[in-house]
Amino acid sequence: MLKNDLILRAARGEQTERTPVWLMRQAGRILPEYRAVRNSLSGFKELVETPELAAEVTIQPVDILGVDAAIIFSDILVIPEAMGLTYEMVEKKGPHFPKTIEKASDLDKLRVADSNDLSYVYEALKITKKELAGKVPLIGFAGAPWTIFSYMIEGGGSKTFSKARRLLYSDPAMAERLLDMITQSTIGYLKKQVEAGADMLQIFDSWAGVLPPEHYSRFSLKYISRICDSIDEVPITVFAKGAWWALPEMANMNCRTVGLDWNMNAADARKILTTKTLQGNLDPCALYGSEEAIRKATQNMLDDFGDHPHIANLGHGVYPDTDPGKVKYFIDCVKELSAH
Ligand code: CP3
Repeated sequence: MLKNDLILRAARGEQTERTPVWLMRQAGRILPEYRAVRNSLSGFKELVETPELAAEVTIQPVDILGVDAAIIFSDILVIPEAMGLTYEMVEKKGPHFPKTIEKASDLDKLRVADSNDLSYVYEALKITKKELAGKVPLIGFAGAPWTIFSYMIEGGGSKTFSKARRLLYSDPAMAERLLDMITQSTIGYLKKQVEAGADMLQIFDSWAGVLPPEHYSRFSLKYISRICDSIDEVPITVFAKGAWWALPEMANMNCRTVGLDWNMNAADARKILTTKTLQGNLDPCALYGSEEAIRKATQNMLDDFGDHPHIANLGHGVYPDTDPGKVKYFIDCVKELSAH
């Protein structure tokens, strides 16, 4: 039994006493308590792969910041790894894949992840669920196939994503084969997360915004839709960063909540996504402002979403150098200003 199920009720489109709030990347470097755990280890991957410690840092923001949900501490890149492409997390630089996918024959070395893979994530979910003892719901997640595909082709972040985008023109059949393998892996992975205790799921399409609309529909939304159609156990949130033009198509998708980034206008989104709950969308940089400015920006955000079912969040992950005091202040403002 959950003591606080505000976020689940909001996701189902029900009216709530106040707007629930959590932050993308809430479990991470903004918290000195996270850095202390992280610095005692060999690196990021050891933390992700040690269930007791992953559970500990998952719960930290619930206790310290007062958010209305926990999100399991992991990374979207565990899926390519389970498929046979390992990643490294390079200090101060980000993810790096020593081997990437370049040609069709490279796909023969990959496999669809199965239920024996990623048991450390399921174990972390089980421990977290137990330790949360019903305090707040637990969010599971995965990357969208297009975003995972980008990492597997590019080998890391990119300014242009031209290698990944090039393949969509030069060999669309190969691109579709890889996207299909990632989608199958992700469906199995998310279902297992639900079995292990995830109360809701979020799909992160961080690199949605680099595709032209027609390609986005064909090479990304199609696969996200397949994932949503395959899972009806818990509510799903789809966050497609930068893909404001895709909102009409998302209206027909089998997800409950659509995440908005700070470039999207909540009032416009409400007119398009009439049956969905909306999540977002304060500019993460707003948290560098004064408390007075944060309060005003939070009020403006709440006004933009109006009476429409809403889960408050930032428009993308919180930046690591944000003052945790300001993050807590934002969370407190949402709770206070939305109460009725
Ligand atoms: O609190 C949470 O949101 C849960 C944990 C979480 C992490 N990564 C932990 C993490 C989640 C949901 C992710 C998802 C993720 N990972 C995304 C999608 C969300 C988004 O931000 O768009 C992406 C694109 C990745 C890939 C990734 N992982 C990058 C690009 C980086 C490096 C950038 C950076 O912030 O350093 C990571 C590393 C990472 N993942 C960290 C954390 C806490 C920082 C690494 C560290 O502690 O040293």
